[in-house]
Amino acid sequence: MTNSSVIKPLTVSFLQTPLKGKMNVPGDKSISHRALMFAALATGESHITGLLEGEDVMQTAAAMQALGAQPKRIAEGEWHVVGKGIGQLTEPENVLDMGNSGTSARLLSGILASHGFLSIMTGDGSLRKRPMKRVTVPLSETGAQFATREGGKLPMAITGTANAKPVTYRLPVASAQVKSSILLAGLNAHGVTCVEEPVATRDHTENMLRHFGVEVHVEDLPKGGKKISLKGPVTLQGKDIKVPGDPSSATFMLVAAAMIKGSEVCIENVGLNPLRTGAFDVLKWMGADLQILNERVEGGEPVGDLMIKAGALKAVDVPAAHAPSMIDEYPILSIAAAYATGVTRFRGLEELRVKESDRFTSIVEMLRSNGVQVDVEGDDLIIHGTAGNISGGGEIETHMDHRLAMSASILGLVAQKGVKVDDVTFIRTSFPNYFPLMNALGAKFDL
Ligand code: S3P
Repeated sequence: MTNSSVIKPLTVSFLQTPLKGKMNVPGDKSISHRALMFAALATGESHITGLLEGEDVMQTAAAMQALGAQPKRIAEGEWHVVGKGIGQLTEPENVLDMGNSGTSARLLSGILASHGFLSIMTGDGSLRKRPMKRVTVPLSETGAQFATREGGKLPMAITGTANAKPVTYRLPVASAQVKSSILLAGLNAHGVTCVEEPVATRDHTENMLRHFGVEVHVEDLPKGGKKISLKGPVTLQGKDIKVPGDPSSATFMLVAAAMIKGSEVCIENVGLNPLRTGAFDVLKWMGADLQILNERVEGGEPVGDLMIKAGALKAVDVPAAHAPSMIDEYPILSIAAAYATGVTRFRGLEELRVKESDRFTSIVEMLRSNGVQVDVEGDDLIIHGTAGNISGGGEIETHMDHRLAMSASILGLVAQKGVKVDDVTFIRTSFPNYFPLMNALGAKFDL
């Protein structure tokens, strides 16, 4: 459970020594949520290895338990789930607390829409500010009813329906969470559920549904994007799932190693789904010495090992169409841009305003308060690189946002006067062993 009363500030000093070593990052957050949810909806038993045991995923585990499934931890990252079967979840006795996790809240809303009982969902101070209309509008077409706070915010009451109508919907924003929530409602609706996305977003839901035996049709749209459909009601068969390392978590180490002179880091077993690896392309465009080795497919997802060496970084112009494949990586890439030589432009970042914090504003504040010039033009961020001379000395507010906190900590390692970070507790939502792993590489974080 979220304990928002405990705050852990951190002072980070300029690091004069390289990062070196070989490591594994924890399991992919998106895949971990889906593994627990789909296993709960399956008939029979599922066995999951490599599950991320960060707080966000644990909120999903607790919710599936409250809905009658039986997720059980066997060992570190290893879970056994006894599923309930599609349409067979049971009314929760208490409010479902999704903590800091937008993925839990949005995907679960889809599942609950096509179950005929009442649920009440809430979250922490960050999640209660985030928009839910993006799911409640399309999900209302199933016949389910949603009562939210003013502005479509949590807490929210969901009156699901056992006779859900299938939804046809074109996404107004590129969001895998919205796409997934509609597809999940469709698993227990009678007929064809169809989602069109104008730009392709992460397809872990589609991949994993297939893995559980569901027929999912995907077509390329003539003007770009995809049309995804499935015919309900379906049956999911319990399965074994191997969760790869999270590419979003790996990017923090990659950027740190790319900037800190003499560094050489290898991260093994990282997910390489092409709809997630936009940041790796951008690092290569910036001139980083990044190699992808030992590529293979495991559990239906491509994985590989990443090898990075420090080197000069140059500015880059990233088109808006690239954003969905690296949407969570802008905070840490903004540090690479600030360190690079030249002026970087990140285009089309409107979705950053509705993440765990308003990341658009948080990034601007983080960089400006540490001596980096940043301009804003509409939804574009323009970062004036310092050619390795970030002055630092600023205090960074992280607004209950794990990725902001990790990015700020890495900014401190490369800023001459270091930085102060107001609160690093939220890192536990996605990367519980972040500080021990960074320190094993030589980061010298003093906690
Ligand atoms: C996620 C999708 C993305 C991403 C989030 C995880 C998912 O959100 O930012 O961290 O697992 O589907 P949006 O769908 O809001 O873009």
